[in-house]
Amino acid sequence: MSVPDFAESIARYLRTNNMPAPIEAAVILGSGLGGFADHIEHPRVLPYAGIPGMPQPSVGGHKGQLVVGTVGGRTVMAFSGRFHHYEGFSFAQAATPVYLAKRLGARKLIISNAAGAINTSFSVGDLMVIEDVIRGNLLISPAGYPRHPYRHHRWVDTVCSLAAGLNLSTRQGTYIYAKGPNYETKAEIRAFRRMGADAVGMSTAPELFEAARLELKSVGVSLISNMASGVTGNKLNHEEVKAVAENRKEDFVRLVKALIEQF
Ligand code: HPA
Repeated sequence: MSVPDFAESIARYLRTNNMPAPIEAAVILGSGLGGFADHIEHPRVLPYAGIPGMPQPSVGGHKGQLVVGTVGGRTVMAFSGRFHHYEGFSFAQAATPVYLAKRLGARKLIISNAAGAINTSFSVGDLMVIEDVIRGNLLISPAGYPRHPYRHHRWVDTVCSLAAGLNLSTRQGTYIYAKGPNYETKAEIRAFRRMGADAVGMSTAPELFEAARLELKSVGVSLISNMASGVTGNKLNHEEVKAVAENRKEDFVRLVKALIEQF
């Protein structure tokens, strides 16, 4: 199954530069979740800037490096820094980590993000396993490839059971992709709720759809970093939000480790 030429070249470069193969799991780290990379043993850090052809992220909170090493004896690659379409990247560029994971033989892909809760029963700090996706912009898939189904739902129960086994409560829900970079208006959030969305974010959907096309076993996990626009009457208290997210980071790390070992 083909990946764009630019991604083939990057994969070739990595393979000829001592990338261990095969990779057991690839992890894409969302905003504020880059700390997972500190839990990788025997890390080799490859700044994106030193990888020929690699897109260069411009968003704060995204480091822009690939960390390769082991977790529980399994070889992993973690992308600390992702590529958003709103930064000017094409949807194919946004899916670069997916292509590299596939070409380096990863058996599974864990995609994380920070998202805003639309579902009023959710709270800041919740971890939501993405059950389904609404593509606010229907054109997120790179053109030129055959049609393919989105069937990632089949892994959600396994992921939630794994989390429950760690005494971690998770939500399941529908993620709606919004291009950004502006946050949504209150009216948009009301509309998204009527459409059936539980959380909103500006990433992940292109990655999940390309992973589906490439038949790469994947799961998306959202850390609810805030209630979406207009969901609470209160002004967001950023200190509180940061503190809750900070607390859940440990749980996120535990979940990702379990996924690497058992998913
Ligand atoms: N909207 C869109 N993207 C986000 C949000 C949000 O409220 N929170 C984190 N990423």
